[in-house]
Amino acid sequence: MQEKLNLDNYKQAIADLYTGRSQTYDKTRDNDDWHWQIANRLVEYGQVGLGQNVLDIATGTGHCAIASAQLVGSEGKVIGIDISSGMIAQARQKAANLNLSNVEFQLADGEKLNFPANSFDRIFCSSAFIWMSDLISALSLWRKLLKPGGILGIHAFAETAFVGGVVTQKIAEKYGISFLMSKPTGTIEKCQNLLQQAKFESIEIKVEQEDSSYISLEKAKRMWAGSEHPAPGQYPSPLSQLSSEQLAQAKAEFDAELEALQTEQGIWNDITTYYVYGQKPCVS
Ligand SMILES: C[S@@+](CC[C@H](N)C(=O)[O-])C[C@H]1O[C@@H](n2cnc3c(N)ncnc32)[C@H](O)[C@@H]1O
Repeated sequence: MQEKLNLDNYKQAIADLYTGRSQTYDKTRDNDDWHWQIANRLVEYGQVGLGQNVLDIATGTGHCAIASAQLVGSEGKVIGIDISSGMIAQARQKAANLNLSNVEFQLADGEKLNFPANSFDRIFCSSAFIWMSDLISALSLWRKLLKPGGILGIHAFAETAFVGGVVTQKIAEKYGISFLMSKPTGTIEKCQNLLQQAKFESIEIKVEQEDSSYISLEKAKRMWAGSEHPAPGQYPSPLSQLSSEQLAQAKAEFDAELEALQTEQGIWNDITTYYVYGQKPCVS
Protein backbone atom coordinates (compact mmCIF):
# COMPACT_ATOMS: atom_id res chain seq x y z
CA MET A 1 0.00 0.00 0.00
CA GLN A 2 1.34 3.41 -1.02
CA GLU A 3 2.12 5.57 2.04
CA LYS A 4 3.76 8.56 0.34
CA LEU A 5 2.24 10.53 -2.50
CA ASN A 6 3.93 12.79 -5.04
CA LEU A 7 1.63 15.80 -4.85
CA ASP A 8 1.86 19.15 -6.61
CA ASN A 9 2.16 22.28 -4.43
CA TYR A 10 -1.60 22.86 -4.40
CA LYS A 11 -2.43 19.35 -3.22
CA GLN A 12 0.48 19.22 -0.78
CA ALA A 13 -0.86 22.42 0.84
CA ILE A 14 -4.31 20.79 1.17
CA ALA A 15 -2.82 17.58 2.59
CA ASP A 16 -0.75 19.57 5.11
CA LEU A 17 -3.78 21.66 6.11
CA TYR A 18 -5.90 18.60 6.85
CA THR A 19 -3.13 16.59 8.48
CA GLY A 20 -2.68 19.58 10.80
CA ARG A 21 -6.42 19.53 11.55
CA SER A 22 -6.81 15.76 11.70
CA GLN A 23 -6.67 15.32 15.49
CA THR A 24 -9.48 17.83 16.05
CA TYR A 25 -11.36 17.59 12.73
CA ASP A 26 -14.33 15.68 14.16
CA LYS A 27 -14.83 18.40 16.79
CA THR A 28 -14.00 21.66 15.03
CA ARG A 29 -17.46 23.21 14.79
CA ASP A 30 -19.85 24.39 17.49
CA ASN A 31 -21.92 21.45 16.43
CA ASP A 32 -19.42 18.61 16.87
CA ASP A 33 -21.16 16.26 14.42
CA TRP A 34 -21.45 18.74 11.55
CA HIS A 35 -19.34 16.99 8.90
CA TRP A 36 -20.55 13.60 10.04
CA GLN A 37 -24.20 14.63 9.64
CA ILE A 38 -23.65 15.83 6.07
CA ALA A 39 -21.72 12.67 5.14
CA ASN A 40 -24.32 10.47 6.77
CA ARG A 41 -27.13 12.14 4.81
CA LEU A 42 -25.14 11.79 1.58
CA VAL A 43 -24.85 8.03 2.22
CA GLU A 44 -28.47 7.70 3.39
CA TYR A 45 -29.90 9.38 0.27
CA GLY A 46 -27.47 7.31 -1.84
CA GLN A 47 -29.32 4.12 -0.82
CA VAL A 48 -26.34 1.92 -0.02
CA GLY A 49 -27.33 -1.76 0.14
CA LEU A 50 -26.04 -5.06 1.45
CA GLY A 51 -23.13 -6.56 -0.46
CA GLN A 52 -22.23 -3.37 -2.33
CA ASN A 53 -18.75 -2.04 -3.11
CA VAL A 54 -18.39 1.60 -2.07
CA LEU A 55 -15.61 4.15 -2.64
CA ASP A 56 -15.39 7.25 -0.44
CA ILE A 57 -13.25 9.90 -2.15
CA ALA A 58 -11.51 12.42 0.14
CA THR A 59 -12.75 10.35 3.05
CA GLY A 60 -11.07 12.52 5.69
CA THR A 61 -11.65 10.82 9.04
CA GLY A 62 -13.83 8.27 7.25
CA HIS A 63 -17.37 9.60 7.72
CA CYS A 64 -18.96 8.30 4.48
CA ALA A 65 -16.81 5.18 4.47
CA ILE A 66 -17.74 4.16 8.01
CA ALA A 67 -21.45 4.94 7.48
CA SER A 68 -21.33 2.82 4.29
CA ALA A 69 -19.42 -0.04 5.96
CA GLN A 70 -22.23 -0.32 8.49
CA LEU A 71 -24.72 -0.80 5.61
CA VAL A 72 -22.95 -3.11 3.15
CA GLY A 73 -22.47 -5.98 5.62
CA SER A 74 -19.79 -8.66 5.55
CA GLU A 75 -20.36 -9.39 1.83
CA GLY A 76 -19.73 -5.75 0.90
CA LYS A 77 -16.51 -3.78 0.79
CA VAL A 78 -15.71 -0.10 1.37
CA ILE A 79 -12.55 1.81 0.46
CA GLY A 80 -11.85 5.34 1.69
CA ILE A 81 -9.07 7.36 0.07
CA ASP A 82 -7.51 10.71 0.96
CA ILE A 83 -4.30 12.67 0.28
CA SER A 84 -3.83 13.53 3.97
CA SER A 85 -1.92 10.90 5.95
CA GLY A 86 -3.18 12.42 9.22
CA MET A 87 -6.83 12.10 8.17
CA ILE A 88 -6.25 8.52 6.95
CA ALA A 89 -4.65 7.62 10.31
CA GLN A 90 -7.73 8.94 12.15
CA ALA A 91 -10.08 7.04 9.82
CA ARG A 92 -8.18 3.77 10.36
CA GLN A 93 -8.27 4.26 14.12
CA LYS A 94 -12.03 4.89 14.08
CA ALA A 95 -12.70 1.78 11.97
CA ALA A 96 -10.52 -0.31 14.31
CA ASN A 97 -12.36 1.04 17.36
CA LEU A 98 -15.64 -0.05 15.71
CA ASN A 99 -14.20 -3.49 14.78
CA LEU A 100 -15.11 -2.91 11.14
CA SER A 101 -13.38 -5.46 8.92
CA ASN A 102 -15.10 -4.51 5.63
CA VAL A 103 -13.51 -1.07 5.24
CA GLU A 104 -9.97 -0.04 4.36
CA PHE A 105 -8.32 3.33 3.98
CA GLN A 106 -5.68 4.23 1.43
CA LEU A 107 -3.51 7.27 0.86
CA ALA A 108 -4.42 8.30 -2.70
CA ASP A 109 -5.34 11.27 -4.87
CA GLY A 110 -9.00 11.22 -5.87
CA GLU A 111 -8.00 12.48 -9.32
CA LYS A 112 -5.43 9.70 -9.93
CA LEU A 113 -7.05 6.43 -8.96
CA ASN A 114 -5.91 3.07 -10.32
CA PHE A 115 -8.92 0.92 -9.48
CA PRO A 116 -10.24 -1.16 -12.38
CA ALA A 117 -13.14 0.29 -14.36
CA ASN A 118 -16.64 -0.82 -13.27
CA SER A 119 -15.56 -1.57 -9.67
CA PHE A 120 -18.02 0.28 -7.43
CA ASP A 121 -21.79 0.36 -6.84
CA ARG A 122 -21.55 3.71 -5.05
CA ILE A 123 -18.95 6.49 -5.01
CA PHE A 124 -19.25 9.36 -2.52
CA CYS A 125 -17.41 12.63 -2.09
CA SER A 126 -18.52 14.71 0.89
CA SER A 127 -17.28 18.22 1.79
CA ALA A 128 -14.39 17.90 -0.64
CA PHE A 129 -15.41 18.05 -4.30
CA ILE A 130 -14.35 21.70 -4.84
CA TRP A 131 -10.80 20.79 -3.75
CA MET A 132 -10.36 18.75 -6.95
CA SER A 133 -8.17 20.51 -9.55
CA ASP A 134 -10.29 19.57 -12.55
CA LEU A 135 -13.92 18.92 -11.65
CA ILE A 136 -15.05 17.44 -14.98
CA SER A 137 -12.02 15.12 -15.26
CA ALA A 138 -12.56 13.97 -11.69
CA LEU A 139 -16.25 13.24 -12.36
CA SER A 140 -15.39 11.40 -15.57
CA LEU A 141 -12.82 9.25 -13.78
CA TRP A 142 -15.33 8.44 -11.03
CA ARG A 143 -17.95 7.52 -13.64
CA LYS A 144 -15.46 5.11 -15.19
CA LEU A 145 -14.89 3.45 -11.78
CA LEU A 146 -18.63 2.97 -11.18
CA LYS A 147 -20.34 -0.21 -12.34
CA PRO A 148 -23.00 0.39 -15.03
CA GLY A 149 -26.05 1.65 -13.14
CA GLY A 150 -23.88 2.62 -10.17
CA ILE A 151 -24.47 5.93 -8.41
CA LEU A 152 -22.18 8.86 -7.60
CA GLY A 153 -23.16 11.10 -4.67
CA ILE A 154 -21.37 14.37 -4.07
CA HIS A 155 -22.08 17.04 -1.51
CA ALA A 156 -21.60 20.74 -2.26
CA PHE A 157 -22.45 24.11 -0.75
CA ALA A 158 -24.38 26.89 -2.48
CA GLU A 159 -22.39 29.99 -3.45
CA THR A 160 -24.49 31.89 -0.88
CA ALA A 161 -23.25 29.63 1.92
CA PHE A 162 -20.94 30.79 4.73
CA VAL A 163 -21.14 34.50 5.41
CA GLY A 164 -17.38 34.70 5.96
CA GLY A 165 -16.66 33.32 2.50
CA VAL A 166 -19.26 35.51 0.81
CA VAL A 167 -17.91 38.67 2.47
CA THR A 168 -14.29 37.64 1.77
CA GLN A 169 -15.18 37.34 -1.93
CA LYS A 170 -16.88 40.75 -1.90
CA ILE A 171 -13.89 42.49 -0.27
CA ALA A 172 -11.37 40.64 -2.47
CA GLU A 173 -13.21 41.85 -5.59
CA LYS A 174 -12.55 45.45 -4.52
CA TYR A 175 -8.84 44.59 -4.85
CA GLY A 176 -9.37 42.97 -8.26
CA ILE A 177 -9.11 39.47 -6.79
CA SER A 178 -11.48 36.65 -7.65
CA PHE A 179 -12.05 33.67 -5.37
CA LEU A 180 -13.62 30.46 -6.68
CA MET A 181 -14.66 28.98 -3.31
CA SER A 182 -18.04 27.25 -3.85
CA LYS A 183 -18.81 29.05 -7.14
CA PRO A 184 -18.16 26.02 -9.44
CA THR A 185 -20.89 24.03 -7.65
CA GLY A 186 -22.73 27.03 -6.24
CA THR A 187 -26.17 26.60 -7.82
CA ILE A 188 -28.45 23.68 -8.67
CA GLU A 189 -27.92 24.43 -12.38
CA LYS A 190 -24.13 24.37 -12.05
CA CYS A 191 -24.23 21.00 -10.25
CA GLN A 192 -26.60 19.63 -12.87
CA ASN A 193 -24.34 20.86 -15.71
CA LEU A 194 -21.20 19.37 -14.19
CA LEU A 195 -22.76 15.91 -13.94
CA GLN A 196 -24.30 16.18 -17.40
CA GLN A 197 -20.92 17.15 -18.91
CA ALA A 198 -19.39 14.07 -17.25
CA LYS A 199 -22.15 11.95 -18.85
CA PHE A 200 -24.11 10.99 -15.76
CA GLU A 201 -27.84 10.42 -16.11
CA SER A 202 -30.88 10.38 -13.78
CA ILE A 203 -29.38 13.39 -11.96
CA GLU A 204 -31.12 14.28 -8.70
CA ILE A 205 -30.29 17.16 -6.39
CA LYS A 206 -31.65 17.55 -2.87
CA VAL A 207 -31.41 21.02 -1.33
CA GLU A 208 -31.30 21.46 2.45
CA GLN A 209 -30.91 24.55 4.59
CA GLU A 210 -31.37 23.28 8.10
CA ASP A 211 -27.75 23.85 9.13
CA SER A 212 -28.18 27.61 8.52
CA SER A 213 -28.27 29.69 11.71
CA TYR A 214 -27.29 32.96 13.38
CA ILE A 215 -23.66 33.02 14.50
CA SER A 216 -21.70 35.43 16.66
CA LEU A 217 -19.73 38.32 15.18
CA GLU A 218 -16.52 36.80 16.59
CA LYS A 219 -17.18 33.50 14.85
CA ALA A 220 -17.95 35.25 11.55
CA LYS A 221 -14.71 37.25 11.84
CA ARG A 222 -12.74 34.01 12.22
CA MET A 223 -13.98 33.00 8.73
CA TRP A 224 -11.53 35.39 7.03
CA ALA A 225 -9.68 33.29 4.46
CA GLY A 226 -6.22 34.84 5.05
CA SER A 227 -3.37 34.55 2.57
CA GLU A 228 -1.82 31.37 3.98
CA HIS A 229 -4.91 29.18 3.87
CA PRO A 230 -5.23 27.04 0.69
CA ALA A 231 -8.17 28.12 -1.46
CA PRO A 232 -10.29 25.50 -3.29
CA GLY A 233 -9.28 25.25 -6.94
CA GLN A 234 -6.68 28.05 -6.71
CA TYR A 235 -2.97 28.03 -5.91
CA PRO A 236 -1.46 30.02 -4.36
CA SER A 237 -4.27 31.64 -2.39
CA PRO A 238 -5.61 34.68 -4.33
CA LEU A 239 -4.98 36.88 -1.27
CA SER A 240 -1.24 36.19 -1.49
CA GLN A 241 -1.16 38.81 -4.30
CA LEU A 242 -1.76 41.54 -1.69
CA SER A 243 0.97 43.35 0.24
CA SER A 244 0.86 43.05 4.03
CA GLU A 245 -0.57 46.60 4.22
CA GLN A 246 -3.31 45.76 1.70
CA LEU A 247 -4.06 42.53 3.56
CA ALA A 248 -4.47 44.39 6.86
CA GLN A 249 -6.71 46.93 5.13
CA ALA A 250 -8.80 44.18 3.49
CA LYS A 251 -9.22 42.39 6.84
CA ALA A 252 -10.37 45.66 8.45
CA GLU A 253 -12.92 46.12 5.64
CA PHE A 254 -14.06 42.50 6.10
CA ASP A 255 -14.62 43.07 9.83
CA ALA A 256 -16.51 46.32 9.17
CA GLU A 257 -18.74 44.62 6.58
CA LEU A 258 -19.61 41.88 9.09
CA GLU A 259 -20.30 44.44 11.84
CA ALA A 260 -22.81 46.08 9.50
CA LEU A 261 -24.57 42.71 9.06
CA GLN A 262 -24.97 42.13 12.80
CA THR A 263 -28.50 41.91 14.22
CA GLU A 264 -29.76 41.30 17.76
CA GLN A 265 -29.71 37.56 17.04
CA GLY A 266 -26.22 37.63 15.54
CA ILE A 267 -25.16 37.28 11.89
CA TRP A 268 -27.15 35.06 9.55
CA ASN A 269 -24.96 32.26 8.24
CA ASP A 270 -26.60 30.57 5.29
CA ILE A 271 -25.51 26.95 4.82
CA THR A 272 -27.55 25.88 1.81
CA THR A 273 -26.37 22.36 1.04
CA TYR A 274 -26.71 20.30 -2.13
CA TYR A 275 -26.74 16.50 -2.22
CA VAL A 276 -26.10 15.69 -5.87
CA TYR A 277 -26.58 12.22 -7.37
CA GLY A 278 -25.97 10.87 -10.84
CA GLN A 279 -26.11 7.40 -12.32
CA LYS A 280 -23.62 5.80 -14.70
CA PRO A 281 -25.60 4.72 -17.75
CA CYS A 282 -26.39 0.99 -17.75
CA VAL A 283 -25.37 0.82 -21.41
CA SER A 284 -22.46 3.06 -22.42
C1 LIG B 1 -13.47 19.00 4.54
S1 LIG B 1 -12.60 17.47 4.46
C2 LIG B 1 -13.92 16.32 4.15
C3 LIG B 1 -13.62 14.95 4.72
C4 LIG B 1 -14.77 13.97 4.68
N1 LIG B 1 -15.16 13.64 3.32
C5 LIG B 1 -15.96 14.45 5.47
O1 LIG B 1 -17.07 14.44 4.93
O2 LIG B 1 -15.80 14.83 6.62
C6 LIG B 1 -11.80 17.57 2.89
C7 LIG B 1 -10.90 16.38 2.62
O3 LIG B 1 -10.58 16.33 1.24
C8 LIG B 1 -9.29 15.77 1.12
N2 LIG B 1 -8.82 16.01 -0.25
C9 LIG B 1 -8.70 17.19 -0.89
N3 LIG B 1 -8.30 17.00 -2.15
C10 LIG B 1 -8.17 15.66 -2.33
C11 LIG B 1 -7.79 14.84 -3.43
N4 LIG B 1 -7.43 15.36 -4.61
N5 LIG B 1 -7.79 13.50 -3.25
C12 LIG B 1 -8.13 12.94 -2.07
N6 LIG B 1 -8.47 13.68 -0.99
C13 LIG B 1 -8.50 15.02 -1.11
C14 LIG B 1 -8.53 16.49 2.23
O4 LIG B 1 -7.30 15.90 2.54
C15 LIG B 1 -9.56 16.42 3.36
O5 LIG B 1 -9.40 15.25 4.14
